Amino acid sequence: MENKEYYRSIFKRKSFHLFRDTKKLSEEDLNDLSKFLETVVPLHPEIRTKMKIVKESETTCKRGAEYCILFYSENKEGYLNNIGYIGEQVDLYLAAHDIGALWFGIGKTDARQDEGMDYVIMIAVSKMDRGKFRKDMFKAKRKPLDEIWTGDDMNIADIVRFSPSACNTQPWIAENDDHTLKVFRYRKPGKRGIMPAVLVTFYNRIDMGIFLFLLEVCLKNEGYVFERETYPDQDDEAQKALIAQYTYHK
Ligand SMILES: Cc1cc2nc3c(=O)[nH]c(=O)nc-3n(C[C@H](O)[C@H](O)[C@H](O)COP(=O)(O)O)c2cc1C
Repeated sequence: MENKEYYRSIFKRKSFHLFRDTKKLSEEDLNDLSKFLETVVPLHPEIRTKMKIVKESETTCKRGAEYCILFYSENKEGYLNNIGYIGEQVDLYLAAHDIGALWFGIGKTDARQDEGMDYVIMIAVSKMDRGKFRKDMFKAKRKPLDEIWTGDDMNIADIVRFSPSACNTQPWIAENDDHTLKVFRYRKPGKRGIMPAVLVTFYNRIDMGIFLFLLEVCLKNEGYVFERETYPDQDDEAQKALIAQYTYHK
């Protein structure tokens, strides 16, 4: 999918927490989706991944979706960032094709392994009327810009801040200074929601991959050329972990 299509889709996507008044995916929709899944670009090409489309009934998801896309991966350094990065390409493709989607972190499937890879997460999907997608992204609930971004906003910060994340935790901070953009996974000290800490870190690593993909779509859309370096995020307890650094120019 072209960058401008990804970019447009950022404004249209939203989570379908419940799928109502759904339509059926046609054979053609499913074939196109399968073909698209083979074209996604990984953050870490050395990590093996696989995606599988199954009926929602083959999972614990009961949100009224028709299918779930299951994500499997080798469990290696950076694999959760990688799944977020890949999965967000899928999320944006789906919205662009009027297929409603939900990243479904709590979902499980009996098929915990596939070809030696672990099940990681799923995205539930159903065909929806075009009118059901997001009409005004800026009304979505997100942290204010100054909580997640320092330095020049590059005309992208106020878009990329609408990235989706587990429980809307938005665990990202971007620091922009002198043609260098640093992206951190961040968790406020002491603040604990209902999720156990290890699970929060698990999901937040996926969230970071999502954020990186949206960030890159926005950078390209603004005509920036960049190089990305990623860093290992090994410390589960870290409040602020450097995930990626971009050096850029126009
Ligand atoms: C990694 C990840 C896991 C998620 N897991 C769930 C989930 O288990 N259940 C659910 O209802 N929503 C889930 N969501 C959806 C988020 O709640 C949603 O993306 C967030 O609130 C922002 O809303 P939006 O996607 O409509 O912009 C998940 C999102 C992400 C990115």
